[in-house]
Parts: sequence; structure tokens; C-alpha cells
Amino acid sequence: MLNEIINMFKKKGDFVSGEEMSKKLGITRAAIWKKIRILRGAGYKIQATTAKGYKLIKTPEFSVEELRTLIPTATIEKSPHPPFAFSSANPPECGKGGQGGIVGREIIFFESIGSTNTAALELAEKGAPHGTVVIADRQIKGKGRLGRTWVSPPKKNIYMSVILRPEIEPKDATLLTIMTAVSCAKGVMKSTGLKAEIKWPNDLMISNKKLGGILTEMKSDPDGIVFAVIGIGINVNSKTKKDFPPDIRGIATSIKEELGKIQSRTFIIAEILKELEHWYNVLLNEGRKPLFDEWKRLSATLGRKVRVTAGDNVFTGVAEDIDKGGMLILRLPSGMLKKISSGDLTMMR
Ligand code: BTN
Repeated sequence: MLNEIINMFKKKGDFVSGEEMSKKLGITRAAIWKKIRILRGAGYKIQATTAKGYKLIKTPEFSVEELRTLIPTATIEKSPHPPFAFSSANPPECGKGGQGGIVGREIIFFESIGSTNTAALELAEKGAPHGTVVIADRQIKGKGRLGRTWVSPPKKNIYMSVILRPEIEPKDATLLTIMTAVSCAKGVMKSTGLKAEIKWPNDLMISNKKLGGILTEMKSDPDGIVFAVIGIGINVNSKTKKDFPPDIRGIATSIKEELGKIQSRTFIIAEILKELEHWYNVLLNEGRKPLFDEWKRLSATLGRKVRVTAGDNVFTGVAEDIDKGGMLILRLPSGMLKKISSGDLTMMR
């Protein structure tokens, strides 16, 4: 409903009368006024006059309320901590797909949190359903890959974690990261027009600089994955010189740096969640091939000369392919092929 009001404003680009809205939406003018107050509370600047009605003056850069309106199946959740309580007789349902939209049906927002991944792991442990999304404006203890810190300046970037309960084996968990990398690259491209690429294993890149990363954590038992938490960090409005420490300034970028103006996190997140929904269903219904084909199309790595640091080992060679488990296949100078499961990759030319 809020989404429809926003759309009416955008379509008209001028005042929309209370009567017009009430007719179109089938609710009273008093109910319209309540919605306008919700939008104002979420940071929308809306002018109101008795004679002409309402006019949208300014939209906020991020609004979780608006995000919920952009995800068709999202529930409008008021409490920041939904009382997830599932008994063994009523377990959280698994992600079988096919039952309509699931990614983002619960969106939980924190103004400030240690790490959205840690919060999502705790919520998943309490029974948060498949498709729950945790978003924060700020992270105090943002986690990166390989035990690193993820720099998380407040109200600038995307810090988001998605809880999935996939019916796949733990050895196939890489598929979730690959699916997320593809979804993020496509979501960023659709919402900003920028050309985003993927650097193995899961870095989001623009113009050879790191735009974002993915951190997948999971709980499994002998029967398979109990739940997975996929953390997504994307630099949207940060200024690399001001917001990032010196060691990453030169290698990081943000959407604002690339486009020269502030971008709405709301719309970027909405596109990413829609892509995740799509690619999760592709994976379930068509298998891994279409996903891998898309990953390869978006790859900044394949065909390039690279150096990979994996633990204490450093390998140099040409990145030839990824195998069906997401391992990098490197052609070494000797001509031999080397498979690498994880590491830090630098492109050499
Ligand atoms: C990487 O090192 O490239 C992965 C970075 C992942 C960062 C995101 S931000 C949201 C989520 N919460 C965290 O603590 N980390 C991930």
C-alpha cells in the first residue's frame, strides 16, 4: 500500500488529492493520512495542502518501510525482534521453493548491531524462517572473510544477512555463495547501471576495485545444512578516502565513487533480494548449470593471469575455470592444472 502511494506520487510528479488516492486504493481519507504519517516517519518529505492534497518532495536514501513495500511477500513487521518460536512439531519450513516469494518475507532492521551475520545466526538458531533478511545501518564488529574486519561506516553502505534453510549437502554450500555473488552483481547492475563483476571466490568488483564481499556461515548436522547465513557487504555511499583505512583505500570503491552521486540503498537491496529469489529458484528447479554459466559471464577472473594466496602457499597461473564445486582451476606455468578451494586472488594483467 505504501508502495502504491509512492508510485502514485512518482507517476504524477505533482499533487495527488486525498480523494484520488482514497478511490484508487479503496481506503478512507483518514487511512490515507495515516499512511502519509508513516511515510513521513520513514524520512519522506511530503507537502500537504487542504486544496490540492499531497506532494512528494523528497525520498529518503534508505527506508526499511519502503523496502518492505518493494518486496511483494514481505510482512510489515513492527517489532525488531519477531518472536520466532518453533517447536519440533512445527519446525521452520525449508527452502523448497515454488511457494511464492520467500527471500525478504521477514525483514529485520537494526540501527546498530555488532554484525548482521552474528545476529542472523542467533535468529536462525531461534527458528527464524527461510528467507529472513537482517539489515543494519551500522555494524560495530562487521566480519570479513578469513577472520578479517569488515569496515562498516554508519548509514552509508549495505550490511545485510540472509537466512536460508536449503535442502542441500554441506559440501555444496559454495553454491549459495556463488548464487549470492551472481544476485548481487545483477542487482547492482539493474539498480545503478554500473558494470559489476565477480572476482573469485566472491568479491564484487567495479573497475577492478572491490565494491563488496560475501561471507557465508552455516550450521550443519549429519543430515545436512540446518541453516546458512549469507552476509552481504556492499559499499554504496562511502567515500573511500574518508571512510576506509589507508590499506584498503586504493583497492576499494563504492557506487557513489563510481557514479558521483548518492544512491538509494533501498532500491539496490530490493533488486538484490529479487535476484536472490530468482537464482535460488533456478538452482532448485534447473540445477547448478545456469548459475555457473551466469557466474562465468560475470567473472572478472577467468582468462586472466592471477596470483592466489592459499594459506602459506602462493600460486601463479591463468584462471581457467571453476569446477562444479566452485573451486578455481588454475593453469600453472608448468601446464599442470591446480584446483584451489579458497584463498586471496590478485589479478596480474
Ligand atoms: C569479505 O571479506 O569480502 C566478505 C565481507 C562480508 C561483509 C558482510 S557485511 C554484512 C555481513 N555481516 C558481517 O559481519 N559480514 C557480512
